[in-house]
Amino acid sequence: MAVEEGRRKFFGFALGGFAALGGIISLGAMKRSWDPLPSVQAAGFLTVDLSPINEGELRTVQWRGLPVFILKKTGDMSKNEKRDVVVEDASYIVVIGLCTHLGCIPNWVSSKQQFQCACHGGVFNADGLVVTAPPPRPLDIPPFKIDGSTLVLGEEGPEYQKLTAKV
Ligand code: FES
Repeated sequence: MAVEEGRRKFFGFALGGFAALGGIISLGAMKRSWDPLPSVQAAGFLTVDLSPINEGELRTVQWRGLPVFILKKTGDMSKNEKRDVVVEDASYIVVIGLCTHLGCIPNWVSSKQQFQCACHGGVFNADGLVVTAPPPRPLDIPPFKIDGSTLVLGEEGPEYQKLTAKV
């Protein structure tokens, strides 16, 4: 009688163990299917849905190990057709978040609408243009394209080519 009960417990634990193992293997398979394909990761593309970003909000995303600032301009900020990325009537500034002097990460000071670099006092306006030296040039614009309301970093679209075209 006791032997029979022991067997039942053993088979119960064994069955539970197999079920748990199956669950873990299934979770691993699901995670692999959710992850971006290796070819996509290798290509270095990053997609960012712009629609949830509020006016005046700065988002920072990581692309190829670099910070990229995405600022949605407010209605009272001046337009700049050489720097603005216009998507569905909204204007965005999309720049690599590294100071063009020696590569520090500037802070966005919303009250002054400036990117301020603490390293050597460089200041950029909201468009990423130099206000105070020593930065030698504006914040760089990363290659991007617009697909609906999605920003695709890592691919040169017509909007990027227009902003970076030399006159
Ligand atoms: S690194 Fe920004 S001002 Fe020098």
